[in-house]
Amino acid sequence: MVISIIKGRDMKDQYGRNIDYIRVSVTDRCNLRCQYCMPAEGIEMASHDSILRYDEIIRICKILAELGVKKIKITGGEPLVRKDIIELIADIKKITGIEQVTITTNAINLKKQMKHLVEVGIDGINISLDTLNRSLFKEITRRDELPRVLEGIEEALKYDQVPIKINCVPLGRKEQNIEDIAAFAKDHPIHVRFIEMMPIGMGKDYHFLSEEEILKQLSKTYGTFTPYEGTLGNGPSHYYQVEDFQGKIGFISAMSHKFCHNCNRVRLTSGGFLKTCLQFETGSDLKQLLRGGASDEEIKEAIINTIHNKPKGHEFLSGKIERENNLSMYQIGG
Ligand code: 5AD
Ligand code: SF4
Repeated sequence: MVISIIKGRDMKDQYGRNIDYIRVSVTDRCNLRCQYCMPAEGIEMASHDSILRYDEIIRICKILAELGVKKIKITGGEPLVRKDIIELIADIKKITGIEQVTITTNAINLKKQMKHLVEVGIDGINISLDTLNRSLFKEITRRDELPRVLEGIEEALKYDQVPIKINCVPLGRKEQNIEDIAAFAKDHPIHVRFIEMMPIGMGKDYHFLSEEEILKQLSKTYGTFTPYEGTLGNGPSHYYQVEDFQGKIGFISAMSHKFCHNCNRVRLTSGGFLKTCLQFETGSDLKQLLRGGASDEEIKEAIINTIHNKPKGHEFLSGKIERENNLSMYQIGG
């Protein structure tokens, strides 16, 4: 039985969390091979049939919007490698009830696509960048693409109407020079966020560097970090102000500051699985429903039920690993 309370256009899970944000992964493929995310040899080419077509993604997004989802993040893999991605974004932007469509990218194709993203009204761009050290970038991503990434960022910065954020996963390598990544927020009106590595997929072979350690390290160069009380963005980051910085420094500290009680999101994988938590395999196969001829009402009911059963939170540190998925980030969509 469905006991989620749908008041107006709010969709709540059994713990009363309001789910108004979905991350839609449009592809598993990526033009990088980050060591903590993808195997060196890449991934098996998913057959065309196994990933959702654009009309299927749009149908799900429309149903979600009717249920109260207001914000959509387009993600991957690397979303800008999927053909006609701009057209998909344009169509999602037209859905009634969707207030914000943003994208997360490694910026390799951004120089070419930025103009088109702006034309279709993208509401924000998150750029993943772990280091400005070219040889370490090459080692981490297994591709010598830092120059193209920087060109992409430079292009993005030309459009000051589009909020840009940089996301960096500290790996505890001195030559990563996270100070240089933080400097983007000093030199530009953009926010830089540091993400604690989570034990997901290949990330399990790494240790996370905690917010506290990162703060300590950055303070040596930049002085005092003052907690920022306001909210920015849709997610779990919290921010600090630093003197002389134009943007803020944020943290997504899933390990040291668990934020599951405020979680507002679910994920749609490129294969059409509605995933309710990064860590667990819980969710439902919407592709099967779509292709099995289900009506919008049936799909809606499945979504409501799935969201109702969203897990209470991750168990990364407790060691409870029942029903854990063995997917990696490129399959889940970050
Ligand atoms: N833990 C935390 N962040 C991760 N990312 C990829 N794998 C992990 C992980 N295990 C990050 C990427 C990118 C974003 C989409 O997710 O570095 O910034
Ligand atoms: Fe691609 Fe992002 Fe995974 Fe790196 S972390 S391989 S950029 S999907």
